[in-house]
Amino acid sequence: MRSLLEGLLLGFSQIAGQALYLEDLFSFFDVRPSIASPPKPRPFPQPLKSGIVFENVGFRYPDSDRWAVRHLSLTLKAGEIVALVGENGAGKTTIVKLLARLYDPTEGRILLDGCDLREYDLTDLRRHIGVIFQDFVRFHFTAGENIGAGRIEATSDRNRIQQAAERSLADRIIQRLPHGYDQPLGKRFHEGADLSGGEWQKIAIGRAYMRDAEVLILDEPTAALDARSEYEVFQRFRDLSAGKTAVLISHRFSTVRMADRILVLGNGKVVEAGSHEELVASGGSYAELFELQASGYR
Ligand SMILES: Nc1ncnc2c1ncn2[C@@H]1O[C@H](COP(=O)(O)OP(=O)(O)OP(=O)(O)O)[C@@H](O)[C@H]1O
Ligand SMILES: [Mg+2]
Repeated sequence: MRSLLEGLLLGFSQIAGQALYLEDLFSFFDVRPSIASPPKPRPFPQPLKSGIVFENVGFRYPDSDRWAVRHLSLTLKAGEIVALVGENGAGKTTIVKLLARLYDPTEGRILLDGCDLREYDLTDLRRHIGVIFQDFVRFHFTAGENIGAGRIEATSDRNRIQQAAERSLADRIIQRLPHGYDQPLGKRFHEGADLSGGEWQKIAIGRAYMRDAEVLILDEPTAALDARSEYEVFQRFRDLSAGKTAVLISHRFSTVRMADRILVLGNGKVVEAGSHEELVASGGSYAELFELQASGYR
């Protein structure tokens, strides 16, 4: 009798203990995204007509009281390749996150073809903006799936995957793998082949091409690429992004100078803007940074 009662009480106290975790689980299920589509969303304009405008945008990350960007105004014209340059922490990645609407600005607004970004359908917006972030994901899937992840509906479309891989130069790497596009990548699995940093980066760039997005954003896409690959990737990028709007973020001036226009950021604001030649001639902070990097090669 005693041990039965003991068992019964123990059972109840364990249920009470576990119920606390269940409450966590259900409150997690109840979390709703704070960023959502409006009731009557606009479709994404195809093609983009005027471009994207940041109007006096200010943004603080949640739970932070420092402004990551503030009083930021800039224009990305449709069909233009713009490079963002600036020191670490200047706010480059933050601009990209705002553009893809991973966050909404705290102040000011972002206009896409004259309408606030918040008026567009969220899924449609993200489908048309292809971003490869600095800390891109290395999926421990097959090589084909890694690229296909750029457009989930097309993960079985081998032709499309192959085309995207050719554009990003990942095709050559994949052909060398024993199982080609079906080769599992990463060391997590027994047969997985690990790649070098630059090879992973080419795979990630392929993922961006997979989207066929109206706006393409590459955040330090060439950080791990060697000089020849960087040049090739960019030549292709220029040819393929004809008519598309593109944003490049890079600390390498060899990459940056290939853009149509360069925006220099400092303390979350645009401090200089112009083409490479104009900025070098003006002798501002861009010229100084360029000279610093160039002197290392002489
Ligand atoms: N998730 C976050 N939470 C709080 N603050 C953040 C977060 N991400 C970035 N910040 C802050 O916002 C500012 C801008 O960061 P951001 O990542 O945009 O810089 P960046 O220009 O991309 O720098 P880098 O050249 O190093 O990539 C920095 O001061 C940074 O500390
Ligand atoms: Mg960054």
